[in-house]
Amino acid sequence: MDFYYPQAVELAEKLAQLAPMSGKTRYYFGNSGTEAVESAVKLATYHTGRTKFIGFLGAFHGRTLGSLSFTASKRTQSAHYPTGVQVYHIPYPYEYRPLLAQQAGEDVGASILRYLREELFRTKLEPTDVAAILLEPIQGEGGYVVPTPGFVAGLRQICDEYGILLISDEIQSGVGRTGKWWAIEHEGVEPDIVCFAKGIASGLPLGGIMAKESVMTWKPGAHGSTFGGNPVALAAALATLEVIETEGLLEQAHETGAYIQQFLRQLQSQYPVIGEVRGRGLMVGVEFVEDAVSKKRNSTLRNAIIEGGFERGALMIPCGPNTIRFTPPLNISRALVDEGLSIFADALHEAVA
Ligand SMILES: Cc1ncc(COP(=O)(O)O)c(C=O)c1O
Repeated sequence: MDFYYPQAVELAEKLAQLAPMSGKTRYYFGNSGTEAVESAVKLATYHTGRTKFIGFLGAFHGRTLGSLSFTASKRTQSAHYPTGVQVYHIPYPYEYRPLLAQQAGEDVGASILRYLREELFRTKLEPTDVAAILLEPIQGEGGYVVPTPGFVAGLRQICDEYGILLISDEIQSGVGRTGKWWAIEHEGVEPDIVCFAKGIASGLPLGGIMAKESVMTWKPGAHGSTFGGNPVALAAALATLEVIETEGLLEQAHETGAYIQQFLRQLQSQYPVIGEVRGRGLMVGVEFVEDAVSKKRNSTLRNAIIEGGFERGALMIPCGPNTIRFTPPLNISRALVDEGLSIFADALHEAVA
C-alpha cells in the first residue's frame, strides 16, 4: 500500500494480541476470504521459493483461480476452470466416513499422515518442494468436520521436518466462532499464516492474513490492493472484536454451542436418521443418513428439513452432501436458539413422517 490508515495499524495491533502464534506477527488486509487465501498462497510461495501445495478433499477456500485450485467440496465449483496452483489433495480426517483403510493401532488421522509420508512423499511429491499445507481447522463447506485428535499436530510435525508452512484458513471458523478466537487453538498447534474474513467485520467486506514476522518477508510492492483494508471495514472489525471481548462472546459461543449439541444429541436418540452431531462452539453440524448401520448419505431428507424449516420461518443452510449447519450469530439469545431448534425438530419430525 502507498499510505496506511490509522485503523489498519490499530487493527493489526489488536489482532497481534489475539494471534494464535507466539512471537511477532505481520498483517495484510484485503476485501474477502478468497483474497485472504490468495495472499497466503502468494506469501508462502514468495517466502519459501517453492510452488507446490497440499490441500484437502472436501475443502472450500474460495473461488478465484488460486484458492479454487484448493477448493474441492463440489465438482461444479471447479468444472470448466483452469487450475492456478499445483495442489495435491489428501483426505480430511473425517472419523465418521474414513476414506483410507486404517492399520492396526491407527486412527483416521494417523492413516492420512501415513498416506502422506509413506505414499505421496515416496511416489510423487518431494516434500521439500512443498511451500505450504492449507488447512481448515474445522472443514466448513465440506460438512462441518472436526479433525481427529492429534492430526493437526501431526501435520505441524511434517511441516517442521521439511520446512513447509502451515496455513490455517479461519475464514469460517475464526473470530470466536468455535469458542476460541481461532479454531486451531483447540489443537494446541501454532500455524505460520492465518486467513480471516467473514465475521471479522460483522458483514462489511474485510479479509486478510496474519503471519509470523519471519514469514511475511514481502518487499514493498510484492502484494497489495486498492480497496483492501478500507477504513470503514477496518473500523467495523475493531468494533466487532471489542464487542466479542466486552460481551464475553467466546464463552457464550462455547456454552450456546454445547446447549445446541445436547439438544441435537437428544433428538439423535429418537431419530436414527441423525448419523452424527459434531462441532465446536457455534459451528455445529448434523449429518443425515438412511440408517445408522449403512450410514448411507440422506440428502433427500436433509433437503426436506431445510424446506420444512423455510415454511416455518427458519432459514437453514446445508454443508457437505447431507449435513445441516448451525452457525448463528455469536450473540444469539437463548430464546431465539430455542425457537430455531424447535422449528428444526418440527421440520425433522415432518420430514421423517
Ligand atoms: C473456509 C473458507 N475459506 C474461504 C472462503 C471464501 O471466502 P469469500 O466468500 O469471502 O471469498 C470461505 C467462504 O465460504 C470459507 O468458508
